[in-house]
Amino acid sequence: MRLELHQVSKRFGESQALREVTLSLADFHSLAIIGPSGGGKTTLLRILAGLTAPDAGSVRIDGQTLDFSEPALLEHRRSIGTVFQSYNLFPHLTARENVLLPLVRVHGVAQPEAESIVATLFERFQLSRHAHQKPAELSGGQQQRVAIVRAIAIKPRFLVFDEPTSALDPEMTAEVLDFIAELRDEGRDLIIVTHNMGFARHVSDRCVFIADGLALEEGPSDSLFDRPQHPLLAAFLARVLRY
Ligand SMILES: Nc1ncnc2c1ncn2[C@@H]1O[C@H](COP(=O)(O)OP(=O)(O)O)[C@@H](O)[C@H]1O
Ligand SMILES: [Mg+2]
Repeated sequence: MRLELHQVSKRFGESQALREVTLSLADFHSLAIIGPSGGGKTTLLRILAGLTAPDAGSVRIDGQTLDFSEPALLEHRRSIGTVFQSYNLFPHLTARENVLLPLVRVHGVAQPEAESIVATLFERFQLSRHAHQKPAELSGGQQQRVAIVRAIAIKPRFLVFDEPTSALDPEMTAEVLDFIAELRDEGRDLIIVTHNMGFARHVSDRCVFIADGLALEEGPSDSLFDRPQHPLLAAFLARVLRY
């Protein structure tokens, strides 16, 4: 996919989350966004997913300029699969219903077709035996896998992940990261914010470093990790890769 940002800014009260970010990323399949906390990663992701409109600037995805009017944003949002840190599953619904109901009620898929999509995906991703369990009866890793299946059920244009494993212990983290890598291997386009640098490098072909509301460096992931150019990126990597 292609992504072009031109002078994108977003402010929340006193804090300038993004400062005239200009970026041009051609031909990537998997983009990792890394950088220190509070740097603007989530804000950028939310803009790309149509969940937030910037105060200024423009965004083009695959050559198409995002229209930030409410109806257009709603339509855009529905075409993107988003997965966040907290799984955002409905607690009173089973795993299956959590995937099925949005398909039918939000995306207007006919009930029999939706049922067959869900059955196929649960089978494919080894969730069938958990289909009738409620979120509280599932491990964090299983809940996050259900949330990811919910995101892919709508056949999204691309997937967006915001720190999908930050609430998980190491074993469940591995389970979810394996799942995301599998989706990448299936040829799905994805954009991921993660603090797991080993995974960021492994899963992505492009990487952007964001700090203090600025995109300070971007490039092919291997060269960005091996030969960081910006001093703040070099310092960030030295800090997070120390242990
Ligand atoms: N909804 C919000 N209300 C107020 N401030 C926000 C909001 N979202 C983000 N911010 C602020 O914008 C800055 C960037 O935040 P964020 O995009 O969440 O960074 P990151 O994901 O890199 O940690 C931070 O200073 C944060 O406090
Ligand atoms: Mg964040």
